[in-house]
Amino acid sequence: MTTKQRIEELEALREQALQAGGAARIEKHHAKGKLTARERLVALCDPDSFQELDMFVRHRCTNFGMENNRPLGDGVVTGFGRIDGRVVYLFAQDFTVVGGSLGEAFAAKICKVMDLSIKAGAPLIGVNDSGGARIQEGVAALGGYAEIFFRNVDASGVVPQISLIMGPCAGGAVYSPALTDFVCMVKGGSHMFITGPKVIETVTGEKVSFEDLGGAAAHAAKSGVCHIVEESEEDALATVRELLGYLPSNNLEDPPFVATADPKDRADDALDTIVPDDASKPYDIKKVIAAVMDDGEFLEVHADWAKNIVVGFARLGGHAVGIVANQPAYLAGCLDIDASNKGARFVRTCDAFNVPLITLEDVPGFLPGVNQEHGGIIRHGAKLIYAFCEATVPKLTVITRKAYGGAYCVMSSKHIRADYNFAWPTGEIAVMGPDGAVNIIFAKDIASSEDPAARGKQLVDEYRARFATPYLAAELGYIDDIIRPSETRRRLIDALESIRNKREPRPSKKHGNIPL
Ligand code: HXC
Repeated sequence: MTTKQRIEELEALREQALQAGGAARIEKHHAKGKLTARERLVALCDPDSFQELDMFVRHRCTNFGMENNRPLGDGVVTGFGRIDGRVVYLFAQDFTVVGGSLGEAFAAKICKVMDLSIKAGAPLIGVNDSGGARIQEGVAALGGYAEIFFRNVDASGVVPQISLIMGPCAGGAVYSPALTDFVCMVKGGSHMFITGPKVIETVTGEKVSFEDLGGAAAHAAKSGVCHIVEESEEDALATVRELLGYLPSNNLEDPPFVATADPKDRADDALDTIVPDDASKPYDIKKVIAAVMDDGEFLEVHADWAKNIVVGFARLGGHAVGIVANQPAYLAGCLDIDASNKGARFVRTCDAFNVPLITLEDVPGFLPGVNQEHGGIIRHGAKLIYAFCEATVPKLTVITRKAYGGAYCVMSSKHIRADYNFAWPTGEIAVMGPDGAVNIIFAKDIASSEDPAARGKQLVDEYRARFATPYLAAELGYIDDIIRPSETRRRLIDALESIRNKREPRPSKKHGNIPL
């Protein structure tokens, strides 16, 4: 063969690999409004930056006629590229090739980019669209999954791992995305479940559609498996690019700094009146976030799940920060089981990747109820305490209103090593709210008075004046300063910049034992 012929052969094989699924399957895939595996990776990366690896890999399976069906690339596209100029490693399962099913060679390709991602200290992004374990390959497919799970755990806390679900992701296959830092789904185009509708109906008699069982809305609002949900594949890919902008490439780096034209000392007067005079009235903590953060931008994570706590990424003076905020507009901002899990997970993600934490606190306490107690609010609430205590990134807290009971301790208080704790003058920091407290400590006094209602009100007013303020906590140094709400942005930026290079060693150990 001449050199020219060899080059022509290469080009022909490349073309064959690009069409491995066949024109009909690719057309069917496009007709569903879906991009192919390569199209997804190309759209995700900076222009002309995606470079494919292992295009010539073929499986070695000889069961059930598979020896006559050995597509180039084996149904998964892998390689590296750049996002905003930074290297990322990627894989995308190709549903048009044997249903994107995973066998030994397929898994080895994914493992190769995972290993490279850990060695290079660069994020890993996986696009899942697969019928699961390749049935014809038997246990070799299962072994392949287990190899991937091991690497997901090895990479955890070392490089950011992001999973996009853009088709089926069923059975044990769900556990690779579940082990990653973020799961992003597309409405109508993603399904995740351990057992599908047919098996469920056979075993339990329950009838449920694919979408209701494992669609994006179900996992974004009910199970909490999905961190980010988008309307289209294009939107999901764009959001993943944005998300990476808040994260470092690995745990030894800081997140990228993005200079802003938003003035550091921008005061928002609306904040001075945002907290209602009546302490039982709600307000939207997301308005506070928008007023304080650079350019009002906020990338919310888990937006539809446990809405009583709001978490997500923003920037302060150009520095990436993670926000954990109680939401008084939902369940009065109480901490419950799901909110504790959501908050704890986010705090640990930020701590692992050197993203400082900003806590906005307005919490009347943990949610009362038999369901909560029997569901393990003690165990789950403990995760949130654990996560905040364990976090050594800069931690800044602003108490906007209520900080009652155990929730005061939990929400990044000074005692669990927050660096700066501020309160607005509307802060109320005490063991419990005025009504509850007065009913306990003055029960006899109220009962024996001539007018119990009037006496109760008088005592509540006295308690409120003495305890439902931030000044007692400030007297003790538990609050570093009481600030005007409108100056929150400037105060947080100054505080953050002063503590940005914080180092806080902790006792060495194999690992802690978070109460899972
Ligand atoms: C081999 C598979 C496959 C699989 C799909 N295909 N899944 N081949 N192993 N697991 C093939 C089909 O035979 C078909 O080939 C092509 O992919 C497209 O599949 P269709 O069924 O035609 O597509 P669609 O109608 O869109 O249905 C998609 C689907 C369905 C819902 C995903 O294929 C399906 O239910 N597959 C099985 C899902 C499953 O139970 N997987 C095992 C999960 S357990 P042709 O040649 O006809 O185009 C698991 C264990 C992991 O994964 C454990 C890890 C610890």
